[in-house]
Amino acid sequence: MSFSKRLELISSMVQSGSKVCDVGTDHGYLPAFLYKMGKCESICATDIRKKPLDRAKKNLEAFNASGVELYLCDGLDAISREMADTVIIAGIGGEVISGIIERAGFLKDFTVTLILQPTTGADRLRQYLADNGFVVVCEKAIEDNRKLYSVMKCHFGGVAYPIDDVRKTVGLITPCYDDGREYIKKQYNIAKKRADELKDTGKNTECYIKSRAIEYGLKKLLDTEGNNGV
Ligand SMILES: C[S@@+](CC[C@H](N)C(=O)[O-])C[C@H]1O[C@@H](n2cnc3c(N)ncnc32)[C@H](O)[C@@H]1O
Repeated sequence: MSFSKRLELISSMVQSGSKVCDVGTDHGYLPAFLYKMGKCESICATDIRKKPLDRAKKNLEAFNASGVELYLCDGLDAISREMADTVIIAGIGGEVISGIIERAGFLKDFTVTLILQPTTGADRLRQYLADNGFVVVCEKAIEDNRKLYSVMKCHFGGVAYPIDDVRKTVGLITPCYDDGREYIKKQYNIAKKRADELKDTGKNTECYIKSRAIEYGLKKLLDTEGNNGV
């Protein structure tokens, strides 16, 4: 089975013996791969749309992964704590992911693991997790098909915590490996460009100072933890 580096990284974060639910499964590749690996006690998957779910059903049959249960629902609406101790939400925007977490009360359980991979708005997702007491225990960047993604593993910790702008931008990603360094460099370039543009217009001083501070913070991170800098 051909499998993307992104989905491989996500699968590697799943602990053996887990009961997994893959939210927004689309093609169903992730549950099919996990099923083939044989590392999960049970696997279910959801999608908000029927068409992707039909596609997942077909693919799962083709991969002989018939033990995967599929549910047509918004987020985790059809899923209970008994059905999943590990929830994967990948390939969806950070704000939608926050909304799905917000609605699923059973995720506020120290023993439930969340594996999240936002397509956009990773910074807003990190802010949501901090504000709502979800602790990120591990976060890795991965380059796949010339795009950079962040994958975070977290669980409910019960206590909200502060998060500064630099951490909001790159989370726990470090420049100690190629994809991590590239992820931070990309965010550094975005912050620098924004600060330079704001400086030229001479407007919005607060936003300018914030962008420059992120730029310098990321430069420091690259210089102190990585070898190549920017
Ligand atoms: C780009 S695909 C990602 C597929 C797969 N998770 C991956 O990472 O490769 C996004 C899928 O999420 C589904 N989706 C979007 N919002 C959802 C929600 N609130 N609940 C369940 N599924 C959702 C979409 O219908 C679509 O099939």
